[in-house]
Amino acid sequence: PFTINPYNSIWDHNVRPYKAPGPNDSRGPCPMLNTLANHGYLPHDGRNIERQVLFDALSEHVGIEQSSVETAMANAIILCNFQTGQDCGTTLKNLTLLALPHAFEHDHSFSRGDYKPAWIASPEDFDDNKNFNASIFQTSLDVLEGSSHMNYQQMNQVRLQREALSKQDTYPGWFEESKAIQEFEAGFIFGVMGDFNLPNYISNPQVKVEWWKYWFTNEALPYELGWHRPEPKKDVNFLLSASSRLLAARVTSTPSPLVSGAIGPAVAPVTLPAQVNTITYQLPTGTPYVGPIATEKGLGHNN
Ligand code: HEM
Ligand code: MN
Repeated sequence: PFTINPYNSIWDHNVRPYKAPGPNDSRGPCPMLNTLANHGYLPHDGRNIERQVLFDALSEHVGIEQSSVETAMANAIILCNFQTGQDCGTTLKNLTLLALPHAFEHDHSFSRGDYKPAWIASPEDFDDNKNFNASIFQTSLDVLEGSSHMNYQQMNQVRLQREALSKQDTYPGWFEESKAIQEFEAGFIFGVMGDFNLPNYISNPQVKVEWWKYWFTNEALPYELGWHRPEPKKDVNFLLSASSRLLAARVTSTPSPLVSGAIGPAVAPVTLPAQVNTITYQLPTGTPYVGPIATEKGLGHNN
């Protein structure tokens, strides 16, 4: 039932269909790593992910070069070592451990809620900082007011809106701005979901909003909407340039509240300290998110 646009075989010779995660599969706060696991480009259970397998999957299926994810991968291993108390070597033990709050995972995500520790939240109010949250993602999309494409300036407005809403909804003392990580994630969105059919794609990429929405909402690649991996592949220079260009773009309105310095230039990528966190937070325990195409097209996990 899941048709793959045959055009994509030119770009991707090894397309594997999406399959929904089952209750025992591990998923995390990263929409792309979840997506790769859902397609089976990474182990479908989201566990024991080899560094090189991840690099190859990104290069072959997503058009992201290894240089773009060296820092992210190093941070993932640091998190893995910290949380398992073992030397993970080159193997990321599972995707859920990436959800440790105020580390790599951060507040004001485009599509996830902020963490709330157990001593603040009641069990039914234990905020989920891992699974896709449609209503939070909608607050990102709302900023675009229905436009088909998102440029750097609009993205800057989107991430400021997320910061303001998050700071507004937080509880005293929790909110932390994480510009250095989010600007990179924003760059990734331009890297993979930029509309290559537009004439100025290379010099001035714009995100095709329906591709972005499909990707986040389903945690699947939007092949059936005519998407294929970008060419040329995106390297770290693309990401650094996208990050700084979007943060430098003029802001058209100023949401509030914002921390001082929220509007302003890019920050250099950060490597996590080995002692990732001083508090041992409980990780979110909810079952993995299953997107609507799984239900609509009967693409359930079945085991
Ligand atoms: C978010 C890890 C590669 C796209 C995240 C988050 C983590 C993470 C921990 C959660 C941050 C938050 O709180 O929002 C990683 C690791 C990677 C990797 C370890 C590789 C080693 C990628 C790639 C892409 C990507 C290649 C896209 C091409 C995103 C986006 C978000 C995100 C767009 C933000 C989601 C949101 O704000 O709702 N990633 N990631 N990531 N990641 Fe990844
Ligand atoms: Mn987050």
